[in-house]
Amino acid sequence: MVKVREYVEHDLDSVLEVENASFKFPYSKEIFTELLRQKSTRMLVAEDIDGRIIGYILYSIKSGKCLLISIAVLPEYRRLGVGSMLMQMLLKEVSGNVKQVELQVGCKNFDAIKFYLKFNFKIVGVIPKYYPDGEDAYFMVKILD
Ligand SMILES: CC(C)(COP(=O)(O)OP(=O)(O)OC[C@H]1O[C@@H](n2cnc3c(N)ncnc32)[C@H](O)[C@@H]1OP(=O)(O)O)[C@@H](O)C(=O)NCCC(=O)NCCS
Repeated sequence: MVKVREYVEHDLDSVLEVENASFKFPYSKEIFTELLRQKSTRMLVAEDIDGRIIGYILYSIKSGKCLLISIAVLPEYRRLGVGSMLMQMLLKEVSGNVKQVELQVGCKNFDAIKFYLKFNFKIVGVIPKYYPDGEDAYFMVKILD
């Protein structure tokens, strides 16, 4: 059984494990700390039945828009619906407060692009050389009802 709950400070090292297992250019502890210091930023975590953190979603709300900063699930827990649980919880939390959710995703990150398309995000633009290795990013937006 997987539970999604609000992040608490004590979770940070576990979140970093998920981060490091998931990205070529992971956010550092300092970046997470700085982002989470901002009032507009929130994080939800997914934990398994033993209380192990297996995924997170980090987002901010500004000017009526939600920016999905990052989402990741431990590789061995992927394709089990954990990412969907995190996304559904984010959408529930922000609905009524924002008109849209937006994000950037690497143009070659096909798994994540498929995931976002499933949630009806649309590609609305390309940001050239967005990542340190020169990979372009898609700018994707989901309009909320
Ligand atoms: C993107 C990510 C968070 C998805 O998490 P997840 O727990 O595996 O997602 P779910 O199991 O809820 O998948 C939901 C749907 O998304 C799509 N999807 C997810 N991963 C996919 C993959 N590898 N290939 C094809 N479709 C995929 C499928 O439609 C899937 O539904 P299905 O399993 O019933 O076919 C996960 O792949 C991840 O952590 N990736 C690395 C980090 C990353 O790139 N994050 C995005 C940064 S922009």
